[in-house]
Amino acid sequence: MISLLSALISYLLGSISFSYLAGRLLKGIDIRKHGSGNAGATNTLRVLGKGPGITVLLLDMLKGVAAVWIGTLHSGGDPLIQVLAGVCVIAGHNWPVFFGFRGGKGIATTIGVMVTLAFLPALFAGIVCILAIAATRYVSLGSLVFTALLPILIWFMHYPTEIFVLSLLLFVFAWVRHRSNIAKLLTGKENKLGAKRQA
Ligand code: G3P
Repeated sequence: MISLLSALISYLLGSISFSYLAGRLLKGIDIRKHGSGNAGATNTLRVLGKGPGITVLLLDMLKGVAAVWIGTLHSGGDPLIQVLAGVCVIAGHNWPVFFGFRGGKGIATTIGVMVTLAFLPALFAGIVCILAIAATRYVSLGSLVFTALLPILIWFMHYPTEIFVLSLLLFVFAWVRHRSNIAKLLTGKENKLGAKRQA
């Protein structure tokens, strides 16, 4: 019962699409019809600019942190309930009930969840992710590297099995959500950070 309640609250929290709201409030547009079509921080940066992009990034990360806290408060720190809350907040972000189940790719929210549950692996993976983005200007490549490194680091740093399984699940979520980015990366057509936007 407790786990279901925290899972539901986390899913609803994740379903608040800050990039969609930013598009509507700042320009009266549906962000999903602009730029890459993704309701996420990268596309907000691309379509609405730096301030909104960074704000959405932080708010999306905060959703992940808050969901894990909700799971922790409800369970007294049961890793299974924390993990369930983490999965649900990212599912809400990717498939939001309030916005026709068309959301983002979950990376900022994944960062929030994993920074809270596995700080050092998230930090190391985050550093490599930033270096990959700085070297290539492909945010998607950084996101893919980040989510692929997490389970490896978590495994080698002996985190609880629940956290390792979560990181594997989030890796699958992220790579499935990035399949169009992967296709574009392979054909050299992916959007670069700061470049003129393409659909
Ligand atoms: O986190 C999303 C990012 O990896 C890619 O976003 O808008 O370029 O598809 P976008």
